[in-house]
Amino acid sequence: MNEIQDPLAEIRASIDRLDDDIVDRLAERERLVRQAGRLKPDATAVRAPDRVEAVIARVRESARRSGASAGVVERIYRAMIAAFVELELAATGLPDRPVIRAAVPADAGELLTLQRAAYTSEALLYGDPGLPPLVQTLDDLAAELRTSIALKATRGDRIVGAVRGRPADGVLHVGRLAVAPDQQGQGIGTALIEALEAAAPSQIRQATLFTGHRSLANLRLYQRLGYREARRERLTPQVELVHLIKEVVGDHVVE
Ligand SMILES: CC(C)(COP(=O)(O)OP(=O)(O)OC[C@H]1O[C@@H](n2cnc3c(N)ncnc32)[C@H](O)[C@@H]1OP(=O)(O)O)[C@@H](O)C(=O)NCCC(=O)NCCS
Repeated sequence: MNEIQDPLAEIRASIDRLDDDIVDRLAERERLVRQAGRLKPDATAVRAPDRVEAVIARVRESARRSGASAGVVERIYRAMIAAFVELELAATGLPDRPVIRAAVPADAGELLTLQRAAYTSEALLYGDPGLPPLVQTLDDLAAELRTSIALKATRGDRIVGAVRGRPADGVLHVGRLAVAPDQQGQGIGTALIEALEAAAPSQIRQATLFTGHRSLANLRLYQRLGYREARRERLTPQVELVHLIKEVVGDHVVE
């Protein structure tokens, strides 16, 4: 059969022509995105989550008018916008620092996934898969979010780090510090602790945290942040907990 008489081949030829048009229009869109990128002061302005939602709402409406599936158009646009954001950030060279803000109840599932991924290295270090952050249930984590100051660090839509602090009797109990394994060593852990201390209520006089005696990188991090060893506690024959404290007053540190 001649290819042009094959109905599927005909449809595919039409799709190919349409794709050429679409790519031409994408090239036009890319030129505009690059122009806009040069006018933006920082990575947050590039990611512009409110603008993204406005664009999505607009194209869903256009999809409805054109008889296209709004769900398909939304998925294509979200993928396209994510790719353009990456391109814009690379083209402008703006530092893409994570944004730190309060975690909300809807984050519980993602925080549990992050926590489990991060604490796996600790489990290997101590040969113990039953570490509390690894066996915490989703319900327990959700309850903890309601009773503590919970912060998350995000890059775009992704949660890349988190920490929680529970104030009690003037002391901030810091815990569950976790950074996604592929995002470690970029200062996110440091930024999370500093943000948590700054968010502590003014009656907080001291911050305390603990880590295992073999977690030398964690001990280095905490000491760099001004925490000093207060005591050691034997947890199991293999594990000693090192408790550290730092004097803080509300949103500033006592020098
Ligand atoms: C502990 C933990 C939260 C630290 O997070 P992190 O984001 O890697 O911490 P930071 O990046 O601030 O600091 C880690 C190292 O990166 C270095 N660093 C910080 N900013 C950096 C940057 N911009 N570029 C390069 N290196 C940097 C720090 O100097 C530090 O170096 P060191 O290991 O030689 O001391 C993370 O390793 C983790 O999730 N571990 C598993 C869970 C865990 O152990 N939690 C704590 C339990 S007590």
